[in-house]
Amino acid sequence: MLRDRTRHYVICTTATLLVIGLTLFPVSIVRAKGGQGGAASSATFRTKCAMCHGQDGAGSDVGKSMNVPDLRSQAVQKLPDAELAQVISNGKAGMPPFKSSLSEDQIHGLVTYIRSLAAKK
Ligand code: HEC
Repeated sequence: MLRDRTRHYVICTTATLLVIGLTLFPVSIVRAKGGQGGAASSATFRTKCAMCHGQDGAGSDVGKSMNVPDLRSQAVQKLPDAELAQVISNGKAGMPPFKSSLSEDQIHGLVTYIRSLAAKK
């Protein structure tokens, strides 16, 4: 009787842990695929993009002399994520390409960062 209960307890605990593990595991994969976290993307933006676009996306003096668009503007925000990622990867007119210096994850993180700029305006 007692042994049966113990076995039941062990099986229940194992099953519960298994369910928790199976739930958390895919969640962590999805998180990792969602691109870099906000802090990392903000740092990447500061080192790679802010010299032209300004940390807030409005455009630095250098950027303005090159006619960078305000990244918070409708003109930029209305573009789909794929288009923004494409411009960051391959460049466009005065905008240099970044596909050799940034990973896909970093580029996706930057797209998310650009979206967050619009919300702050
Ligand atoms: C050397 C200056 C420079 C740097 C560095 C730079 N950009 Fe740009 N960016 C530009 C210019 C110039 C344009 C305008 C291109 C055009 O004529 O449409 C632009 C345009 C853009 C656009 C708008 C594209 C569109 O189709 O309207 C996005 C988004 C963008 N840049 C993101 C970034 C990100 C993210 C980084 C950092 C990884 C970055 N830029 C780094 C100069 C720069």
